[in-house]
Amino acid sequence: MIELPEPPVLTEPTVRVQTSYLVGEQADMRHRGADATWLREASRDFAAYVATRVGVQERWGVPSELFWFTSGEYYLGSLVIRHRLTEDEGGGHVGYHVVQPWQGQGHATAMLGQALPRCRDLGIDPVLLTVAPDNAASMAVVGHHDGVPDGLNHEGELRFWITP
Ligand SMILES: CC(C)(COP(=O)(O)OP(=O)(O)OC[C@H]1O[C@@H](n2cnc3c(N)ncnc32)[C@H](O)[C@@H]1OP(=O)(O)O)[C@@H](O)C(=O)NCCC(=O)NCCS
Repeated sequence: MIELPEPPVLTEPTVRVQTSYLVGEQADMRHRGADATWLREASRDFAAYVATRVGVQERWGVPSELFWFTSGEYYLGSLVIRHRLTEDEGGGHVGYHVVQPWQGQGHATAMLGQALPRCRDLGIDPVLLTVAPDNAASMAVVGHHDGVPDGLNHEGELRFWITP
């Protein structure tokens, strides 16, 4: 296993992790059989790509902020905090993914752990997370943070509330 230079932290998107981001996302997309054509544009001008991701932006119709989980030059995954729930509450307040080469090493659990105080500072309390019923890994992540189940949303995803 790769030894990380320091414990990973949530950071704003940064060109510092360019190679690791592109390779990690490409590996993840290929693993999931997902369309990775967006990576061509991102790799052509990474600084421009990063500039479009930084800061609080209106996404899904609500103010949202994107974070990358990084350690030195390594990029491990992404997390988004929606400052408000969308009208249909789709996706909850927090969404995340860890790219495939870094999965199964506790990073999603740690990443969500770092996001919760940010949610609290933003006045998001409790925090809604939604998880597909077949996503055992994400359910374990939410369980590690004492997510309280609350039925299904309109997309058939399980709803969990976490006190940040
Ligand atoms: C869900 C996801 C974020 C988990 O990331 P991760 O860094 O591997 O998670 P962790 O290492 O913190 O593992 C959390 C738990 O899930 C378990 N787990 C990991 N992969 C698993 C799998 N395929 N099946 C069952 N459990 C799994 C781990 O054993 C761990 O449990 P433990 O702590 O009780 O041992 C990652 O798989 C992912 O990005 N998936 C695609 C996107 C996604 O589903 N996002 C979440 C949407 S709600």
